[in-house]
Amino acid sequence: MEIAEWLLTPASLDVRRLGYLTAAISLRARAARCRGDWAAHEAQCHAIVAAAVAGLASRRTCIVLGSGLMRDVPLPLLARSFERVVLVDIVHLWPIRLKALAHRNVELVSLDLTGSTDLLLKRAPGLSDPFLRLLDIGDTDLVVSANCLSQLPIGPAVIAERRHRSYAGRVPDLERRIVQNHLAGLRRFPCRVCLLTDTVSITIGPDGTVTDRHDLLAGVTLPEPDAHWSWTLAPARETGTGETIVHEARGYIDFGARERSRGARTAP
Ligand SMILES: C[S@@+](CC[C@H](N)C(=O)[O-])C[C@H]1O[C@@H](n2cnc3c(N)ncnc32)[C@H](O)[C@@H]1O
Repeated sequence: MEIAEWLLTPASLDVRRLGYLTAAISLRARAARCRGDWAAHEAQCHAIVAAAVAGLASRRTCIVLGSGLMRDVPLPLLARSFERVVLVDIVHLWPIRLKALAHRNVELVSLDLTGSTDLLLKRAPGLSDPFLRLLDIGDTDLVVSANCLSQLPIGPAVIAERRHRSYAGRVPDLERRIVQNHLAGLRRFPCRVCLLTDTVSITIGPDGTVTDRHDLLAGVTLPEPDAHWSWTLAPARETGTGETIVHEARGYIDFGARERSRGARTAP
């Protein structure tokens, strides 16, 4: 079934070679298995996006980054609230393609939000700027970065480590740069930006003790969120080791406003 999905999903050769299609299919399968465990997280995310939409005076275009299957983001709400909704991801599986077809104002853009594809395939010496294309969309009144920030560096880091250590090493600190570039890209939009992201991964042993805790944002810190919650990413039955993986997640209704208030508090 998953092999058929891999063969039948529209995706470029680069996306297939770099493992993004395989990752998206396995994420879809995990999301289906963990539906109940992820429900509270998805409800939190929907509430943050709904609050971001509610405060807007103008609702022309909404761009969703890392749209995936649009589980975290309410597509019907966006489709009825905005004239145009643009879903951006490196790969769009069939379930979201079919959902998008049901709305005449929803379109899909396939884009590497890290700008690392050419670097990883040894066609460029550094990262490209994916935001140039996004800023060109125009009339944007809301951008939602939908739980992709922590995901963006994972694929490039693995590939750089395994296959091209010396070449990708031309971009020192690749993971941190990718996280920083995404946040810097979000700051370039003149409109409201709603940010959903997980920040920390915690592994809990069968006896309830924390066995591992690591930062998912490569040392990049964020301002205080509007809301934070725990997301049971992988319950014990999913990990197979008896351990449970919980992520700390955050929601920002208006990321720019949160950053400005952090700046104001830290100013001399
Ligand atoms: C945790 S999922 C987000 C889930 C999604 N918001 C939803 O509601 O279903 C992370 C998403 O980031 C996307 N992603 C990972 N690397 C990417 C890249 N380099 N460029 C664009 N999207 C990427 C994945 O394809 C995936 O859809």
